[in-house]
Amino acid sequence: MGELLATGGEALRIYTGGTFDLFHSGHVNLLRKCAELGRVTVALNTDEFIAGYKGRPPVCSFQERLDVLQACVWVDEVIPNYAGADSRPAIESVQPNIIAIGTDWARRDYHAQMGFDQDWLDERDISLIYIPYTAGISTTNLKARSADRNRL
Ligand code: CTP
Repeated sequence: MGELLATGGEALRIYTGGTFDLFHSGHVNLLRKCAELGRVTVALNTDEFIAGYKGRPPVCSFQERLDVLQACVWVDEVIPNYAGADSRPAIESVQPNIIAIGTDWARRDYHAQMGFDQDWLDERDISLIYIPYTAGISTTNLKARSADRNRL
């Protein structure tokens, strides 16, 4: 597929945020589809934000999750989602054309989760797109699988 270009002729800038703990094939599929659209920046949730949001820290530290994402061929850049529940400062620093997220968010309030509303996106000419979620694998699912194996 030919590369999609922004108005100025440069590659589209794709922003995607998440935790990416226990990096798995669902993450890879999402990032590959992002890379088909343009240059991919991942805004990575910090350990502090995850601990507050999920009530427990991630299995892998920020640095460990960062190292893996930086080694992924579908990722061009990783930045910390430093303002936590308010993703707007991280988004402003990237100035993306597109924000991409898996369809597991399509029926939840992703706008509220990210701390923006549709007007804020429209003012910046940012499109929000949903990428098909990979069934059958997630960080939560891997933790459950691991617990099951340890019981054997
Ligand atoms: N994602 C996906 N398919 C999966 C798992 C995740 O497309 N099977 C996408 C999510 O929609 C999100 C990104 O990967 O856009 C990062 O998701 P994250 O929450 O970090 O991963 P999960 O595996 O869903 O973690 P958890 O089980 O803790 O929710």
